[in-house]
Amino acid sequence: MKFLVTGGAGFIGSNFIRLLLRERKDSEIVNLDKLTYAGNIENLRDVEGDRRYTFVKGDICDREVVEAAADGADLIINFAAESHVDRSINEPGSFIRTDVFGAYTLLETARKYDCGFVQISTDEVYGSISEGSFFENSMLSPSSPYSSSKAAAELLAKSYFTTYGLPVLVTRSSNNFGPFQHPEKLIPLFITNAMENKPLPVYGDGQQVRDWLYVIDNCRAILAVIDRGKSGEVYNIGAGNELTNLQITEMILAGLHKPSSLIKFVKDRPGHDKRYSVEAAKIRQLGWHPEYEFGKALSETIGWYRGNAGWWQRLKSGEFLEYYKRHYHERHGLGDAA
Ligand code: NAD
Ligand code: DAU
Repeated sequence: MKFLVTGGAGFIGSNFIRLLLRERKDSEIVNLDKLTYAGNIENLRDVEGDRRYTFVKGDICDREVVEAAADGADLIINFAAESHVDRSINEPGSFIRTDVFGAYTLLETARKYDCGFVQISTDEVYGSISEGSFFENSMLSPSSPYSSSKAAAELLAKSYFTTYGLPVLVTRSSNNFGPFQHPEKLIPLFITNAMENKPLPVYGDGQQVRDWLYVIDNCRAILAVIDRGKSGEVYNIGAGNELTNLQITEMILAGLHKPSSLIKFVKDRPGHDKRYSVEAAKIRQLGWHPEYEFGKALSETIGWYRGNAGWWQRLKSGEFLEYYKRHYHERHGLGDAA
C-alpha cells in the first residue's frame, strides 16, 4: 500500500512513519513536509536509508507539488499543520493558510486520484467542557484560531465524503507527549527548562485540565482507524489521563529532582480552554486501547529529552528564541524563560 504522509517531519507524523515502516512491511511512504520551524529532518534520520521511504520537501498548499507527491498513493494522511495554540493567537494567518487551504489542496488531489483521505484533527475542536466528556457527535465550539482552523479542515473533509463520495476518516486526539515533540509545547518545554534550571511558566492558576496520550498510542489508534474505521466517520482518541497543568509540572520537577521554586505563574493564555475531555468508546470498539501507563511513559519521555539534549538545544535557539523574544517575553514578562 502506498501512503502520502504530510507533515511527517513533525512530532506525531515522524513517530507514525516509524511505526508504519516497522509494522507494515509492504508499505511505501512518501513524506511531504515543508520543514517549517516545527519540522525536523533529523526526526527520521534512522529510516532515511529505507527503500520504502521517500522524503519530499514541499508545501501542502502547492497543488503541483502535492499532485506529484500523491501520484499512485492509495491513502493521504494529513498531519501537516501549524499546531501551536499560542502562535495562532499571535499570528493566525499561517494557520488559515496551511490548516485550511492546505487541507483543501490535499482533498482536491485525493479527489483527482480517487484515493482515501485521513484528516488528523484534534479534541480542541469541541472547545472546553467543565464536566463529562465530548462524543463524536457533540457540537464543535473551537476557541482559538488554531482549533478553528482544524475544525474548518475536518468539516471540509467530511463535505468531500458527503458530496463527492471521497473515502474520508477523521481522528480527534487529545494532547500527545513523547519523543521528538518540539520544546515549545508544555511537557517538553517544562522538561528542558527544568534541566536548564530555568523558570517553568505556568499560565494562569495552572488548574487547566488536559488528557495526556502517549504518542505511540495515538499512532496505533490512527492505524486502527485506517484498518477498521468506517468511511465518513470521526473517531475520538483519548487515554483518560486527565491532569491539571500544575500536577504535570510537579511530576516533571519530581522526575528531574528539581525544586518547586522553578514554577513561575504567568499571565494566562487568552481564550484559554479550561478542560478537554473526549469519550473514546468508539475507537475502543475498533479494538484499540492505550498500551502505555502514563507515569511510566512520562519518565521515559523525560529520559529521552535527557539523552537527546543536542536535538532540543538546537530547536531552542534560532527561530524559537526570536519568536520568544517577540511574543512570549513581552506577554509574560519572563526574561530568560525560554
Ligand atoms: P508539529 O507542529 O510537530 O508538526 C507539524 C508538521 O507539519 C511539521 O513537520 C511542519 O514542517 C509541517 N508543516 C507545517 N506546515 C506545512 C505545510 N504548509 N506544508 C507541508 N508541511 C507543513 O505537529 P504535531 O504535534 O506533530 O501534530 C501533527 C498533527 O496532529 C497536526 O495536524 C495537529 O493539529 C494534530 N494534533 C496534534 C496533537 C498534539 O498533541 N500534538 C493532538 C491532536 C492533534
Ligand atoms: O488537545 C490537543 C492539542 O494539544 C493539539 O491539537 C495541539 O496541536 C497541541 O499543541 C496541544 O494544545 P495545547 O494548547 O493543549 O498544548 P500546549 O502544550 O501548548 O499547552 C498545554 C497546556 O499547558 C495548556 O493548558 C496551556 C498550558 N501551558 C502551555 C505552555 C506552552 C502553560 O501553562 N505554559 C506554557 O508555557
